[in-house]
Amino acid sequence: MITEGIKNSLFIKAAFSQETERPPVWMMRQAGRFMKEYWEIKNKYSFLEMCKTPEIAADVTMLPVDLLGIDAAILFSDILVTGEAMGGDLDFIQGTGPKFSNPVRSKADVDKLQTEVLDKLQYVGDAIKVIRQRLEPHNIPLIGFAGAPFTVMSYLVEGGSSRDFKRTKLMLFNEPELAHQLLAKITKVTIDYMNMQIDAGVNAVQIFDSWASALSWDDYKEFSHPYVSEIISKLNRKDIPVISFGKGSSVFWPLMAAPKPDVISFDWNGNLPDIKKQLPQGIAVQGNLDPQILYADKKVIKERILRLNEKMRGEKGFIINLGHGIMPDMPFDNVKYAVETIKNLA
Ligand code: CP3
Repeated sequence: MITEGIKNSLFIKAAFSQETERPPVWMMRQAGRFMKEYWEIKNKYSFLEMCKTPEIAADVTMLPVDLLGIDAAILFSDILVTGEAMGGDLDFIQGTGPKFSNPVRSKADVDKLQTEVLDKLQYVGDAIKVIRQRLEPHNIPLIGFAGAPFTVMSYLVEGGSSRDFKRTKLMLFNEPELAHQLLAKITKVTIDYMNMQIDAGVNAVQIFDSWASALSWDDYKEFSHPYVSEIISKLNRKDIPVISFGKGSSVFWPLMAAPKPDVISFDWNGNLPDIKKQLPQGIAVQGNLDPQILYADKKVIKERILRLNEKMRGEKGFIINLGHGIMPDMPFDNVKYAVETIKNLA
């Protein structure tokens, strides 16, 4: 269900390529460790407790709404909760990041993964309902999300974060059939999960293919693109814009555009107006500031934002975001300054 107010919000209008008086702004990882208010909560609970307790997930989701004044909220959760629901033994370890202590390496491991898991993810639906109520007076849309199958697969196979994705790539290269079985299972769960988020009340959804950039064109085409396309084709999309994000989007966008997402979210490598002009009508773009400008002097932050806005002038369907997420050591004051600068754009 979508209210008139949400339908007419800057974010939803821009996502559907309608004209807006300025580009809307939100930032990936906007609810996180760069905020002292996040730490006040995080010091009391583990990350997964925060995700699994609807009131806490709602409190954290609201931090950037209240403290930064962004134009869209994103559900506080993680892309790896699908992997956990499928049978992954997941933990988030301070300073190391996510860990699956039972990595998926063999056919027996893949066969063991469950695919009827919505009941295990019900806490996300419950959180969405609480968050929607909190957002109502602000008239701010809520973005739901999930990981793209390749990116989630990489965590399941590696057992955590990776620099080179060696085990994942070896599965793609040496055991492509097994890789496809694994990707198909994750895809099934992701479709159910995203449709559950839509039923629970999110106003948009984003698919995060954070590590697509590790793949060659041919491997992206074989191992990521078909699964992201299948997800997009099976989402209950009415009134719900679908955003397809990938690191590597400035290379892979001709493939990413094929399943017709409403928005493609870009890393900072490409020239956004050039790409926008080549995209089919009706696909909006999101991005594509280099996140690291948020470490720089305010005059640089302002200059880079004005430059991007100038380059995109006259283009309908433009949402300002970073090409990837905010880092934990980025100064809060700089993030807030960037949001304010964007909100003052004409
Ligand atoms: O603010 C938001 O963007 C909403 C919440 C959100 C989180 N993770 C919270 C989180 C979202 C959208 C994600 C998605 C996510 N998770 C992605 C895709 C987006 C991207 O950034 O590429 C990926 C690859 C993950 C996997 C993941 N989760 C990693 C690699 C880490 C560790 C990061 C690190 O540097 O330690 C996480 C943990 C995580 N997810 C945290 C948060 C706030 C930190 C948890 C903590 O407090 O320790």
